[in-house]
Amino acid sequence: MKNLAIIGGGSWGTALAIVLAPRFPRIHLWVYETDLAKRMAETRENDLFLPEFLIPNNVEITNDLATAIDGADIVLSVMPSHLVRGVYRQMLPFLQESMLFVSATKGLENGTLLRVSEVIFEVLQAQFTPRIAVISGPTFAREVAKGEPTALVVASGDQSLAESVQAAFSGPTFRLYTSSDPIGVEIGGSIKNVVAIGSGVLNGLGLGHNATAALITRGLAEMTRLAVAMGGKPLTLAGLAGLGDLVLTCTGDLSRNRSVGIELAHGRKLDEIVRSMNMVAEGIKTTNAAVDLARRYAVEMPISEQMFQMLHFGISPREAIQRLMERSLKGE
Ligand SMILES: NC(=O)c1ccc[n+]([C@@H]2O[C@H](COP(=O)([O-])OP(=O)(O)OC[C@H]3O[C@@H](n4cnc5c(N)ncnc54)[C@H](O)[C@@H]3O)[C@@H](O)[C@H]2O)c1
Repeated sequence: MKNLAIIGGGSWGTALAIVLAPRFPRIHLWVYETDLAKRMAETRENDLFLPEFLIPNNVEITNDLATAIDGADIVLSVMPSHLVRGVYRQMLPFLQESMLFVSATKGLENGTLLRVSEVIFEVLQAQFTPRIAVISGPTFAREVAKGEPTALVVASGDQSLAESVQAAFSGPTFRLYTSSDPIGVEIGGSIKNVVAIGSGVLNGLGLGHNATAALITRGLAEMTRLAVAMGGKPLTLAGLAGLGDLVLTCTGDLSRNRSVGIELAHGRKLDEIVRSMNMVAEGIKTTNAAVDLARRYAVEMPISEQMFQMLHFGISPREAIQRLMERSLKGE
């Protein structure tokens, strides 16, 4: 594998370009914003989404999709989930069957309720049958860019594809494990953002570690229930893309979804919080899909349900927590 195209130059796409630069002779990084792409090419820094990190010289920044994809062996997409279908449609004329597709997006498509790899498959199958893997796990972009030790999972139904990506991406600070369960990996990476909003609420209300530990554990139970109902494996959710990412997002100060919960608990309005962020908090949109999937698969997802009620129907953060505590009593 010689040439990598990274599609999406937000925080995560830029961090991936930095950590993967030593592994590829040439990387193309597609940046949506024309002015940002120009500045990044000149200053070698993403001052909007990942300031203070130098982008290595073998990372070529472009605002043109055809240029980004030209000659790529691997296409690694890192755009927010609601943009995946549109960007892949734009890329379609330039893509080839020989390319490997890797998705680093976390989230679900509202409306269709598809996982991101399914959206990609749906778009590309108009032209050919694509080979797709997903990467996920506990990975704050800034820590990856700093070169701090990070472990993640690459999942695909095609074992040899997962192994190829593992070999191509693993390095001294970036360790990939393979998995044959993209369903579990993508559901874990999506639902943990919803639970993280709840964790922020607990923190914002001044509650302590008991509440957070309970939320993480019960959050894991509900994401596992959903993943298994959809055909995923329970053990995947006990791994890096499930428990690992859940712990990170529910306890880490760099988590945007947790920050949203904290701000809500401090009384700020959701639209005001979203307007003040230039980055995506995937959990807000994922909450809608989580609740719809819970209904479709007839699984209980009380944390997602209360987050949904809080985000969209105005119940207060305190009431959302109260309702979780007052549900009918159950076995674990
Ligand atoms: N930031 C992290 O630490 C991290 C870690 C792992 C996974 N992820 C996931 O990666 C995905 C991308 O998140 P991020 O944090 O890099 O994003 P970000 O919030 O830092 O940046 C937003 C991105 O959206 C792009 N964008 C905005 N409008 C667009 C449009 N109309 N068309 C195409 N692109 C457009 C921007 O160029 C930018 O790349 C998300 O699904 C996120 O959950 C993020």
